[in-house]
Amino acid sequence: MFKLDVLQNMSTEEKYKYMLILIEGQCSTEKNSLANLSNASAIIKACLDKLNWVGFYIMRGDELVLGPFQGMPACNRIKLGNGVCGSAAALKKVQRIDNVHNFSGHIACDFATNSEIVIPIIKENKVYAVLDLDSPEFNRFTELEEKYLIKFVEKLNKYINWEEV
Ligand code: SME
Repeated sequence: MFKLDVLQNMSTEEKYKYMLILIEGQCSTEKNSLANLSNASAIIKACLDKLNWVGFYIMRGDELVLGPFQGMPACNRIKLGNGVCGSAAALKKVQRIDNVHNFSGHIACDFATNSEIVIPIIKENKVYAVLDLDSPEFNRFTELEEKYLIKFVEKLNKYINWEEV
């Protein structure tokens, strides 16, 4: 059982660190990749403020297919190179976008979104998925948060069998 009431008294950085403890606890006690990805999206949504969508898109051929998420229903498929998610996957590089309306090709799944961060999930130089976080606030995602989200993804990635999901 996750104890989330403790979050109320934590600083922002403590919340990032707690998120890492939670994902390690989840993945080290469960082998099923779908369960781990599902709870990973729930852990981020519970620990971080001002998010309207958090979830995974998983590479299948030349497109990303919607995976476990928290938020409003979203687009099912994104071609490699399209939108913020497809760009992160094609470039193998984090996309931290302060204002999505200025990002050429941004795909608006939830009209509430104003800023977004997408972390590519890579094993042996191959992109298996992306983690996507959306916020209704402009400039929501900081460099510090990006650093912790990368750590989060690194921990998670060690446990996921991407062929299984
Ligand atoms: N905005 C994303 C699409 C996914 S939704 O935000 C959930 C993009 O431009 O790739």
